[in-house]
Amino acid sequence: MPDQLSEPGPEEDYHVWHPFTQMGRFDREPQLVIDRAEGNVLIAQDGREYIDGVASMWAIVHGHGHPHIVNAIQEQAAKLQHSTLLGVAHQPVIDLADRLAALLPADLDHVFFSENGASAIEVALKMAIQFWVNEGFPDRKRIVAMEDAYHGDTIGAVSVGGSGPFRDVYEPLLFEPLRFPNPYHYRSSECAGADNCTCVDQLGEVLKEHQNEVAAVIIEPRVQGAGGMIVAPEGHIARIRRLCDEYDVLLIADEIATGFGKTGEMFACDLEGVVPDMSVLGKGITGGYLPLSATITNKRIYKSFYDAADDAKKLFHGHTYAGNPICCAAALANLDVFESEDILKQVRGKADFLAAQLSERLGDHPLVGEIRQQGLMVGIELVSDRETKQALPREAMAGWNVCLAARDRGVFVRPLGDTVVVMPPLAIETAQLEQICGAVTYGIDKIDESDHT
Ligand SMILES: Cc1ncc(COP(=O)(O)O)c(C=O)c1O
Repeated sequence: MPDQLSEPGPEEDYHVWHPFTQMGRFDREPQLVIDRAEGNVLIAQDGREYIDGVASMWAIVHGHGHPHIVNAIQEQAAKLQHSTLLGVAHQPVIDLADRLAALLPADLDHVFFSENGASAIEVALKMAIQFWVNEGFPDRKRIVAMEDAYHGDTIGAVSVGGSGPFRDVYEPLLFEPLRFPNPYHYRSSECAGADNCTCVDQLGEVLKEHQNEVAAVIIEPRVQGAGGMIVAPEGHIARIRRLCDEYDVLLIADEIATGFGKTGEMFACDLEGVVPDMSVLGKGITGGYLPLSATITNKRIYKSFYDAADDAKKLFHGHTYAGNPICCAAALANLDVFESEDILKQVRGKADFLAAQLSERLGDHPLVGEIRQQGLMVGIELVSDRETKQALPREAMAGWNVCLAARDRGVFVRPLGDTVVVMPPLAIETAQLEQICGAVTYGIDKIDESDHT
């Protein structure tokens, strides 16, 4: 591969086009090819080992290779590999829907399966719009979303996502949601901050003005992931729920990143005892092993589609591999592990340990503007000046360079711009958390030594 940035042209022998990756730079960076994984450790083809500090894109829950999940996959693969859900069922999907309905609160009882997070968001958006059509209110067709949101890469999901490079170039394909501010208090000039957050008040104003046009509000409860690990204050979800009730608007909780214990509760909405009208799950649903997602609705929504006579009321949606039996078997085994080991209690203890480590190592670091954490979801925002909160120059690619340096210390992490993300599997061990914090600190120190450029 070419090693000079000035050397033009693509690498001819390499045929993978990686997601969210500038291939022109990828060709020039040290290549990491993962061969296998054990527990919380990724093992590369060259034999080097890396702690999986981002749970393979926030997905892995009980570590790689958990025998109970692996066995369930193998057994199901030997029995039934695939069978459609279009008008036909199979036992693993029936069992999984039962288990999810029992796990989710109140009457969140009806489970619509897809294969990835973005698709499950598309389902939620389509359900919300069609719900109001079925109910006789076709003018309720607008979605309200938070600024800096991330709900996936498909057209509907990008539409409700925040502005910036994820969205702007695709503008001609998108619809425009109504918006309200996100609680990014570190940089917000409008909101009084976490103790007196007024971001939700603005949602109230939007709903008041557009009451008869709005179908649903969509949020990433408590933590906005890809927007920069932005942690909302206690009470934020409950206030949004109250406003949705006041204006009779559906609340969609995108728990694709926050679900399955990542925040310290099974679902982020549980942190505040909130029940959304739809909960959208993905990533960790199979323990992070296989592609599966779910849009789970309450009885009110399900009933509005349910009609023996009117075919037009059914949901016009369905993917070929939705609810694949091997994926469902993995998801059932994932839930078994949650039940048989006291995972959530352990997560809270690990989150406290991680907070203490980060504060000790990075709390006063001159390049660390803010450390945001909820459970095992962490964002470390780098700045060039703590006082002024001045960002680092973009071309310095500080976040990326910190993560590359962390690899020298046996840790794999990925940034979101200049926010370094740490989001390990729930099975992470305290010694591994120490190693992750040490490696990230080493990476940030290196940037500091190079005078930020
Ligand atoms: C909150 C949230 N919603 C949706 C998605 C999209 O999920 P997927 O990448 O499986 O389509 C993500 C992915 O990071 C996410 O964090």
